[in-house]
Amino acid sequence: MAATGAGRGAPHDGGGAAPWVPSEPTVASLKAAVQACRGCELFEDTTQAVMGDGPEGARLMLLGEQPGDREDREGLPFVGPAGRLLDHALESAGLGDVPAYRTNVVKHFRHERGAGKRIHKSPSRWHVAACEPWLLGELEAVRPVGVVVLGATAGQSLLGPSFRVGASRGRRIDWPTERFALTRQPGWLVATAHPSSVLRSRQRDADLAALVADLEVARDLLR
Ligand code: URA
Ligand code: SF4
Repeated sequence: MAATGAGRGAPHDGGGAAPWVPSEPTVASLKAAVQACRGCELFEDTTQAVMGDGPEGARLMLLGEQPGDREDREGLPFVGPAGRLLDHALESAGLGDVPAYRTNVVKHFRHERGAGKRIHKSPSRWHVAACEPWLLGELEAVRPVGVVVLGATAGQSLLGPSFRVGASRGRRIDWPTERFALTRQPGWLVATAHPSSVLRSRQRDADLAALVADLEVARDLLR
């Protein structure tokens, strides 16, 4: 059996998620449908798919990379350590009470096994492309005004491979309208660091402050 998709370059059949995505998606129908997805090999050796979570009509979408170990086991995005840090940063930025829909560009946990535990492995661009129909469905169902992009994987998925967090963070970027055919396009995105990178940082206080400052830009744009 393939180990988790770990170490593999491409989805096993290259097909992608489109056949599994409901044609008139709602948050509830996406959650139900994603468990059947075989759009790439990442479903193997995981507990479940982790669809985004939050209210339909949320004006803000938060877009991460992929579920982590805790998210894989609990079935919800951002419920582990990175999620706690994100919650704290959102509160500090004055976004604690703002309804937000949280999701990831890839819905299954890519990992390797080492020393008895599962170690995060970033999804390849093939996995990101395979999983994109789910994100399109979420954008259609939620119709956010703006999207906060958490980290390089999410940024590259929307803005292309040359996207870098450092060069793009903390300012309004026009939503790439040509990227998806949507009934209602978001107006903007704001890029920032991934909360996991803040957790790993040796200058955590400064990196957390920078994350909060970027989130404040999104807060001001929502006003
Ligand atoms: N990191 C992410 O990108 N998403 C999660 O849901 C958890 C950790
Ligand atoms: Fe489907 Fe995405 Fe999971 Fe791949 S990662 S099986 S495309 S839901």
